[in-house]
Formats: sequence, structure tokens, C-alpha cells
Amino acid sequence: MKKIILLFSIVVLCAATAAIAVPANRSLTFDKGALGAVEFSGKIHAEAGFKCGDCHNPNLFPKYKQGSVEITMEKIYAGELCGFCHNGETAFEAKTSCNRCHVK
Ligand code: HEC
Ligand code: HEC
Ligand code: HEC
Repeated sequence: MKKIILLFSIVVLCAATAAIAVPANRSLTFDKGALGAVEFSGKIHAEAGFKCGDCHNPNLFPKYKQGSVEITMEKIYAGELCGFCHNGETAFEAKTSCNRCHVK
């Protein structure tokens, strides 16, 4: 019985760690678009020098939860969401580099 409780605790602990695991060392895959899945690498963005609040703020991605905002190219081209940076100034421009995000 003790063993089962211990095992259970480990499982719960792992689940909790996964929940707070940050995109700084993780990748999120967005694969709803028709063009090919987009991998968002927390590592690349952390290495580019961004802090959590640079993206997790009321203007961009308020929630620490994948799927909490609907990402469309219309919004990206308008300079919202990923397009806030992927505009050819802060980072490569979305309009001219589909394949740097949509990898087949
Ligand atoms: C360059 C932008 C950016 C930075 C910097 C960033 N995030 Fe995120 N994060 C995102 C995006 C985009 C999502 C997905 C949001 C959505 O789909 O609504 C996300 C989602 C998350 C999630 C939910 C993951 C899941 O599986 O649902 C967590 C937790 C998170 N971020 C934590 C952090 C923490 C902690 C930091 C700072 C160390 C951080 N993020 C920095 C863009 C960023
Ligand atoms: C706060 C600014 C910011 C936001 C928001 C942001 N990015 Fe980035 N992203 C960068 C920077 C800076 C780089 C480094 C490459 C560069 O300088 O062009 C980068 C790199 C990338 C790369 C690596 C591409 C390659 O060829 O190396 C991908 C893919 C990417 N971003 C996708 C996304 C997606 C998808 C989102 C939205 C969910 C997003 N980014 C939101 C700033 C941002
Ligand atoms: C900065 C990264 C990035 C670049 C560059 C990019 N996209 Fe996207 N795109 C995304 C993300 C993220 C989604 C949302 C996917 C999801 O929700 O699963 C998306 C969704 C889409 C969708 C489905 C939703 C919609 O708005 O119709 C299409 C189609 C699409 N992209 C086409 C393109 C084309 C064409 C280009 C180049 C001209 C491009 N994308 C460049 C990140 C990018």
C-alpha cells in the first residue's frame, strides 16, 4: 500500500512539474493551420533575450495556456500576437518567410 501511495505521489509531482514547465525550455506545436505545423521554441525565444512578461501580457498572450488565443495570419500580418515581433524589425517578417514557422 505504501508503495502505491509513493508511486501516486511521484505521478502527481511529475504532473505538477509539467504544468509549470515553461516554454523557455519547451516547445509548443500549433498544428491547426493547413500550411504545416508551427513549432514555437521556448529556447530560441528565451535565447533571443525575452522575459515571460514580454509575451505574457494583456496585449499578446495573457494566459499561460496553449490555445487561449486564436492565432490567425490576419492578426499576425496586422502586427498582433506572433506578428508583434515577426514584422521584419524585431524578428523576421511573417509575410516573407512562411516556411520558417510552418515546417512540413
Ligand atoms: C516570445 C514569446 C513568449 C515568451 C518570451 C514566453 N512565452 Fe510562454 N507562451 C507563449 C505562447 C505564444 C504560448 C501559447 C499561448 C496560447 O496558445 O494562447 C505560451 C504558453 C505558455 C504556457 C502554457 C504551455 C501549455 O502547455 O499550455 C506556459 C506555462 C508558459 N507559456 C510559461 C512561460 C514562462 C514561465 C515564460 C518565461 C520564462 C514564458 N512562457 C515566456 C509565448 C511566450
Ligand atoms: C517578443 C517577440 C516575439 C514574439 C511575440 C514571437 N517571436 Fe518568434 N522570434 C522572435 C525573435 C527575435 C526570434 C529570433 C529570430 C530572428 O531574430 O528573426 C524568433 C524566432 C522564431 C522562430 C525560429 C525561426 C528560425 O528559422 O530560426 C520561430 C519558428 C518563431 N520565432 C515562431 C514564433 C511564433 C509561432 C510566435 C507566436 C506564437 C512567435 N514566434 C512570437 C521574436 C518573437
Ligand atoms: C511567425 C510564425 C509564422 C509565420 C512566419 C507564418 N505563420 Fe501562418 N500561422 C502561424 C501560427 C502560429 C498559426 C496558428 C496555427 C494553429 O493555431 O494551430 C498560423 C496559421 C496559419 C494558417 C491557418 C489560419 C489562418 O489564418 O488562415 C494559414 C493558412 C497560414 N498560417 C498560412 C501562412 C502563410 C501563407 C505564411 C507566409 C506568407 C505564414 N502562414 C507565415 C505562424 C506563422
